[in-house]
Amino acid sequence: MQNPVIYFDNAATSWPKPPVVAETMSTFLAQDAANPGRAGHRMAVAAEKMLDSVRQQLTEFIGGTDHHRMIFTMNCTDALNMAIKGLLHSGDHVITSMLEHNSVSRPLQALADSGIITLTRLGFSPETGTIDPADVKKSITPRTRLIVLTHGSNVMGTVQPVEDVGRIAGEHGVKFLLDAAQTIGVVPIDLRKQHVDAIAFPGHKSLLGPTGTGALYLNTTISVEDLAAFREGGTGGDSSSPVQPRLFPYFLEGGTPNTVGVAGLGAAVNFVTKHDPAKTLNHERTLVQRLLLALDEIPGVTVYGPRGAGGAANRVGTVSFNFQQYSPQEAGGILDESFSIAVRPGLHCAPYAHRQIGTFPDGAVRVSPGHFNTEDDLDKLIDALRQMAE
Ligand SMILES: Cc1ncc(COP(=O)(O)O)c(C=O)c1O
Repeated sequence: MQNPVIYFDNAATSWPKPPVVAETMSTFLAQDAANPGRAGHRMAVAAEKMLDSVRQQLTEFIGGTDHHRMIFTMNCTDALNMAIKGLLHSGDHVITSMLEHNSVSRPLQALADSGIITLTRLGFSPETGTIDPADVKKSITPRTRLIVLTHGSNVMGTVQPVEDVGRIAGEHGVKFLLDAAQTIGVVPIDLRKQHVDAIAFPGHKSLLGPTGTGALYLNTTISVEDLAAFREGGTGGDSSSPVQPRLFPYFLEGGTPNTVGVAGLGAAVNFVTKHDPAKTLNHERTLVQRLLLALDEIPGVTVYGPRGAGGAANRVGTVSFNFQQYSPQEAGGILDESFSIAVRPGLHCAPYAHRQIGTFPDGAVRVSPGHFNTEDDLDKLIDALRQMAE
């Protein structure tokens, strides 16, 4: 049965998923869903082979060189925590930004509150929605160990100058952790051309995979010795060792992995690749551009970040705005109940970004078109927004 909802909440998780994702998960569950690597039997070997092949596929997708360094996680939060808590030591200084999601801000704040690290949180331009790489450079001290930056803002969709930040990090011998939650699957990421030491990403947003999937890729600039274990436990091999084997991916992958989810993620990445991420980005930007122009014509609406003609050029598929006459929660409720349109009102787990654009504590209404949204979906949304303003 067709779900009548018009879904514009792809920045939270993409929906729908390509049918091949569910089909692959169902087949894997029915045929090969044994515990990988734990036994020598055929089903266990098949499960391990599938994991290995999706590791390889994801590594190629981002231009990585060693698929053993692709660590499967539950989501992007898990991957970010693994890197942040694994890499930092007492006395380290960290540079991050006001654009970050709580999955970066909170682990960093917890370490700062415990007196383990010091933290510089860089502001951004509310007009462009981007940080200035010169501010990163100015903030580096002899104690700076890590720069953590989101690739795309989950509030405004603005893409950050990560090539420049990576270059600065490399020149100063500082590690660079990229949060690619909002960009992977649409904005090109190529570790052969970009300096990134570690990249965290979800499988369930623009990669179109199932929830419960994500990964952390550690570049060869990071060794096992640079990291603390995140979750100790069974790895299916080296069982006599009293401690976690110091070998990627097992050092960071204790416990039974989400094989069913990873099988679905592999099918999703095939789909994304076949449909050309550049085309999808172009499609999302076309929808965003139309929405920005329409919002400019609706009285009492404020748009955050770049707006008007050209406003979509440096965005992924994400726009946040507010009505003068409704709170974000009221606007989201009306869109849902009266028009069956799903959007995300509130702070989007990015309180510092909302503070800087002046929308804290209520936040804004976020519309995030994705791969499967159509011009017709957007017509219906614009029509609903116009009716609400009248
Ligand atoms: C920029 C950013 N980073 C991290 C995350 C966390 O991702 P996950 O929900 O997969 O943990 C999100 C989720 O919306 C995000 O937008």
